Amino acid sequence: MSKKVTNIGVLTSGGDSPGMNAAVRAVVRTGIFHGLGVYGIMRGYAGMIDDDIHPMTGRSVANIIQRGGTILKTARSKEFMEYAGREKAYYNLKKRNIDGLVIIGGDGSFRGAQKFSNEFDIPCIGLPGTIDKDIAGSDTTIGFDTAVNTAVQAIDKIRDTMDAHDRLFIVEVMGRDAGYIALHSGIATGAENIVIPETKTDIEELLSSLMEKEKRKKLVNLVVVAEGGEFGDANELVKIIKERIPTADIRVCILGHIQRGGSPSCADRLVASHMGYYAVESLMIGRNNVMVGVINNKIHYTPLDKAVKEKQKIGQEWMKIVKILAS
Ligand code: F6P
Repeated sequence: MSKKVTNIGVLTSGGDSPGMNAAVRAVVRTGIFHGLGVYGIMRGYAGMIDDDIHPMTGRSVANIIQRGGTILKTARSKEFMEYAGREKAYYNLKKRNIDGLVIIGGDGSFRGAQKFSNEFDIPCIGLPGTIDKDIAGSDTTIGFDTAVNTAVQAIDKIRDTMDAHDRLFIVEVMGRDAGYIALHSGIATGAENIVIPETKTDIEELLSSLMEKEKRKKLVNLVVVAEGGEFGDANELVKIIKERIPTADIRVCILGHIQRGGSPSCADRLVASHMGYYAVESLMIGRNNVMVGVINNKIHYTPLDKAVKEKQKIGQEWMKIVKILAS
């Protein structure tokens, strides 16, 4: 295996997610436990290029496990996509003898890590930090549980007013091109319909189920839509429904960035702490270019290129269950 690491850097990259701070804390404290120098890199790869890199102590990460966002801040860096940007970043690491990196982010961040590691021989370990849960090699991602719970709490509130007015509500949740937040929050709130990008939605079936419900005066209907759904955003779906059911009293709620904030759930704190610890252990034993994930409650390593390319598959069975339970 490769040479021993002495100093490591940790960064958060891409969209923030609740639990990133817990992961940073675990990386910093595990690194210090092993006698490593630990550096916090601000604003993801952008800070690596701009030399915004700071030594961390155990105290630097005190009182953050419960906080949403990321104390290291985050960004999506265009400059890092160019070789010149990555080279600049490398020299900033080199002057501090940083010889290992932990990248907490999504698949875009892993793509950058892999390229960087191959070009400059700096071992990189990825931790899946995204609310979207769109990464293969882990049953969950840091932030997903909190985001889903935020969506569930919001939708429960919507259901109160929806029920009072006998309305049809379309709630759009985040997830980029993945439907996990929609699927989980939709099931947990008893949605009548869930529209996700992973499965083809039979729009005729959806419309006739709404018409049939209108006929039998079941006017309360909740449709949870993933933002990456095939009909475009929630307002587009409203247009389609209105064309066929002009009398429908429809309201739309786009939950948006509220899903990214807030104190991480217990599950996200645990998974972040677990993965953060194993990220450093991995660097210590010479692992490189892998993502630390959790499968069946056990730590699992996936090569970064597999975590990038493969998307999780959504079980068709759930969509069937949704229909049965909502009838
Ligand atoms: O990847 C996380 C995510 O919140 C997606 O669910 C969403 O599509 C996107 O980021 C929003 O990005 P931004 O904060 O740049 O608008």
